Amino acid sequence: MSASVRIVLLGAPGSGKGTQAALLKEMYGIAHISTGDILRQEMADETALGQKAAVHMKEGTLVPDGVILEMMESRLLSPEARRGWLLDGFPRTLTQAEGLASLMEGIGQKLDAGVILNVNPEIVVQRLSGRRVCESCQSVTNVGEMRPSAVCPLCGGALIMRPDDEPQVVRKRIAVFEDQTRKVFDYFRANYDVVDVDASRSIIEVTEALRRALDRYDHP
Ligand code: AP5
Repeated sequence: MSASVRIVLLGAPGSGKGTQAALLKEMYGIAHISTGDILRQEMADETALGQKAAVHMKEGTLVPDGVILEMMESRLLSPEARRGWLLDGFPRTLTQAEGLASLMEGIGQKLDAGVILNVNPEIVVQRLSGRRVCESCQSVTNVGEMRPSAVCPLCGGALIMRPDDEPQVVRKRIAVFEDQTRKVFDYFRANYDVVDVDASRSIIEVTEALRRALDRYDHP
């Protein structure tokens, strides 16, 4: 893959965007820019942005577009993003999608492809109820098949549930996705190359499907 490839990963909450992005980042050596991860870090650091975001994230609603677009502009211009990037969790509204297009035009960058991870809602609910994050190394795992007392398989740290994975917040996030984010798929289909992937398969199978699909953007 080209060292300057630029990909947007689109999908419902729990479709596997973060899981696949972490693997693709390693595979291709490009920046993984996750709006959810950035906002959680801002919350942990108790910044003004984090405090603004916390209200929305706790409820499962979206952080205002203006806040997100300002945050993304600086990320796309950062040295880390010079070798290419993979966006995860952005854009989530038509305003954000149009904002990304004008941001890229302004800085002379071009998107290679949008990748849509397709899963049905039952799978999403099941995955999110089992998702756990390691308190020490922040890696994401799933306790579906594990003992209740399980610890992080990578570092042995304690596993915690993301507050917005509580069932009532998950329901809200899925409703927000259907209302505001699904239409972004159509925007991408109309404006960019789009790769559709069946993300209901195992993690390894999805990664392999992505690798095969993204090979076409390899310009050594
Ligand atoms: P964000 O953190 O972006 O959450 P999300 O989009 O809802 O996505 P998730 O992180 O829940 O799921 P994922 O698709 O990454 O799945 P994962 O790989 O972890 O956003 C959180 C909040 O921040 C939003 O609600 C909003 O408030 C705010 N926000 C963020 N971006 C914003 C924006 N652009 N605009 C406005 N507000 C914004 O996988 C889930 C689980 O399934 C894991 O346990 C994993 O191990 C497991 N799993 C993954 N793949 C598979 C597989 N193939 N088979 C079996 N298990 C799997």
